[in-house]
Amino acid sequence: MDNFQYVNPTKLIFGKDQVKNALTKEVEYYGTRVLLVYGSGSIKKNGLYEEVLKQLNQINNVQIVELAGVEPNPRLSTVQKGIRLIKENQLDFILAVGGGSVIDCAKAISVGAHYDGNVWDIVIGKATPSSSLPLGTILTMAATGSEMNGNSVITNWDEKDKRAFSSIHTYPKFSILDPQNTFSVPMDQTVYGIVDLMSHVLEQYFHISENAPIQERFGESILKTTIEVAPKLLNDLQSYAHREVIMLNATFALNKILTMGVKTDWASHMMEHAVSAVHDIPHGGGLAILFPHWMEYVSETKPEKVAQLGIRVFDLDATTETTKLAKETIQQFREFWKSIGAPTRLSDYGIDSKEIDLMVERSIVNETIGNYVSLAKDDVRQILERAL
Ligand code: NZQ
Ligand code: ZN
Repeated sequence: MDNFQYVNPTKLIFGKDQVKNALTKEVEYYGTRVLLVYGSGSIKKNGLYEEVLKQLNQINNVQIVELAGVEPNPRLSTVQKGIRLIKENQLDFILAVGGGSVIDCAKAISVGAHYDGNVWDIVIGKATPSSSLPLGTILTMAATGSEMNGNSVITNWDEKDKRAFSSIHTYPKFSILDPQNTFSVPMDQTVYGIVDLMSHVLEQYFHISENAPIQERFGESILKTTIEVAPKLLNDLQSYAHREVIMLNATFALNKILTMGVKTDWASHMMEHAVSAVHDIPHGGGLAILFPHWMEYVSETKPEKVAQLGIRVFDLDATTETTKLAKETIQQFREFWKSIGAPTRLSDYGIDSKEIDLMVERSIVNETIGNYVSLAKDDVRQILERAL
């Protein structure tokens, strides 16, 4: 293992009716002037909005300002709007109610509110935040792990650029995870969330460090559990038991425990962010298409780890020759994701080769991406072309 330090300051409040049990007290501790951030209305349809207002209104002298309409793949312009609302109304706390997009948007607002320049500087790493406005979240969709990490992914639509940043100052102070709040997530978004969480495990599984057996075994068990439970959940979207397992799996997959002591990859995410920056497709859908192609490409030179995954997660025959085993493993991923209804080709989203140059350009922030196999522009182009 590599040397590491680990800290995760987010208080996780998990389980049935935890909004009712915990929200008022948690918010009260930080402030009374709240920016309430949410998406395009799902929380109004499923009743969560009303419940949140009821709990917030129990705080003495509470003032609530709303930022509604955060887009999936949240936009820089919406972050900037949130920062303006905070400054104009002198707010002291942010409550994000939604999926990864709403939470990521709120995170960028939280550091942008303490920064005098353009918040995009922070997103692209030109400026480093040194403080933030406190943020709490109520998660409504199992996918990104944003509820318990410091990452935020923001799209600059004018520049067709989607970039991620991470900071200790953007970890939520608390996150409330009630699986009941995910009952209304439709089939397609549930599938995208499942692919996303599995991809997070893979990005960290394909690390380049020595001797990390517990990190790998932990990742394998998240994958195995997800593969076992996902089809059951998709047959019964209202199942509390299945929703809670997938919800916690998604949190575990990216609260950075799998990253302890290892140098991870993330090339597939960089490529997917580039595709969705240009074509605005759902993140999990893009990953279901790109990840098998990435695995195929890296298996041409390094099939061992892919083969290991096949033996341990799909119980493939360990005596099979390594290259063949790697191919079988990739086939297993493809079949599983296809069986739950995920897309398989970029053309499923109407994407053709027209803007491939821009997608290659946007994938590569520095000279190369990824660590397991370092990919230059030409490698990325080949992977994207194979995925068309
Ligand atoms: O906008 P609303 O009305 O809330 O509807 C959303 C949205 O249309 C809907 N939804 C969410 N909860 C629901 C619900 N519909 C019904 N009932 C509910 N309970 O689902 C749609 C998608 O929501 P979104 O938040 O976009 O999904 P997700 O959680 O997958 O987040 C995707 C974003 O997170 C970024 C992605 O790039 C993308 O921008 N990521 C963030 C990461 C992080 N912060 O660590 C890591 C990831 O790798 C990822 O890049
Ligand atoms: Zn992801």
